[in-house]
Amino acid sequence: MTITAQDSTQTPAAHSIRDGAFGHATGLSCRECGATQELGPHYVCSDCFGPLEISYDFPAVTREQIEAGPSNIWRYKALLPVPDDIETSPNLEPGFTRLLRADNLAAELGLTKLWVKDDSTNPTNSFKDRVVACALSAARELGSRVFACPSTGNLANAVAAAGARAGIKTVVFIPSNLETPKQVNSAVYTENLIAVDGNYDDVNKLASEIAGEQDGWAFVNVNVRPFYAEGSKTLGYEIAEQLGWRLPDQIVIPVASGSQLTKVHKAFRELVALGLVEDKPVKIYGAQATGCSPVSEAFRQGWDAIKPVRPDTIAKSLAIGNPADGIYVLDICRETGGAVADISDDEVRDAIVLLARTEGIFTETAGGTTVGVLKKLVETGVLDPELETVVINTGHGLKTLDAVTSLVGPAATIAPTYQAFVDADIV
Ligand SMILES: Cc1ncc(COP(=O)(O)O)c(C=O)c1O
Repeated sequence: MTITAQDSTQTPAAHSIRDGAFGHATGLSCRECGATQELGPHYVCSDCFGPLEISYDFPAVTREQIEAGPSNIWRYKALLPVPDDIETSPNLEPGFTRLLRADNLAAELGLTKLWVKDDSTNPTNSFKDRVVACALSAARELGSRVFACPSTGNLANAVAAAGARAGIKTVVFIPSNLETPKQVNSAVYTENLIAVDGNYDDVNKLASEIAGEQDGWAFVNVNVRPFYAEGSKTLGYEIAEQLGWRLPDQIVIPVASGSQLTKVHKAFRELVALGLVEDKPVKIYGAQATGCSPVSEAFRQGWDAIKPVRPDTIAKSLAIGNPADGIYVLDICRETGGAVADISDDEVRDAIVLLARTEGIFTETAGGTTVGVLKKLVETGVLDPELETVVINTGHGLKTLDAVTSLVGPAATIAPTYQAFVDADIV
């Protein structure tokens, strides 16, 4: 059966939404035509089928109020589509991850000042716990029965874990060729891990069809996507707060659907509008792996549209061939004076080891892509090494061990004797 965009925006079973359910959010506005719609499980504009995003009437917020909040994303709850009592509902309390000054990596790459925002320390070891926490709140307020997602792996981990803690039924859909650790990291939390014979774009299409047909399903990145996407803003808020309430000069962000990059940009603009940081130019750079680099290709070619590709890369978490927010990533990177670039799988592997050996941070292939693209941008003179730079590590290396097993291992195998140690001439 064919599902049209109109069908897929229909509201499921009637459910009365309580006052303040979405905090200071006022509605949904179309990112293409600007038409507005009331808050609900809608993600496509009923006028032009463009994507919807949350608009707000923010209250006055001070740095002190934020700093007095909990050490997780709810310190920014006034700026998110969540109720004021959000902390009382069981959730994984993600966020407020470390921002590490990375002097060793900076010296290796020839940069003056570099920080790694390390989101691999979130509850399920990726930044996806942030977006899922906001989607869970929306699903709850909308009275959804099932919490679900199509995923390249990390999102499924986050949805399965958050759903378990919240006591809501979860169903997560993944491409069947996903890395084993990512499959186990979902299956341990949910009995409904569904492997689909196809790539992420096939899984996403299936999820959109189910969302259009079934009542009461909250697909975090489909029909509650506007709420989900806002969770990524907290990455931007935290970076600014952890830098002492100021913005960096430039930032490198991995791109799959492109949602994270657009929301970090939105977060920086909101902080300026609210008077929480001083305005300044921030160059935004997007990172992709060459085997799935439709946004980088469009940037290189000067195109205004994204030509979908069939992914073939070890960076499976970034393997979205038809990225929903690709054109917005292009706009932001162009407008801010940044760029979008890509690197080969071998460069991704090397960058994983580089980050580990310089800073003691084990990233998955997405972080390898981001650090590798940072390296390439410096080497090719695209990125100014004198400017203050932040690079985001979005996920943990234990989820993609296979990527580096051929590169690392014992330097020697020796007998358990002191003489064998001496003979091996190790250091
Ligand atoms: C580890 C990791 N980093 C980055 C991304 C990219 O996120 P986005 O789809 O918001 O571009 C993903 C997406 O799944 C991911 O799993």
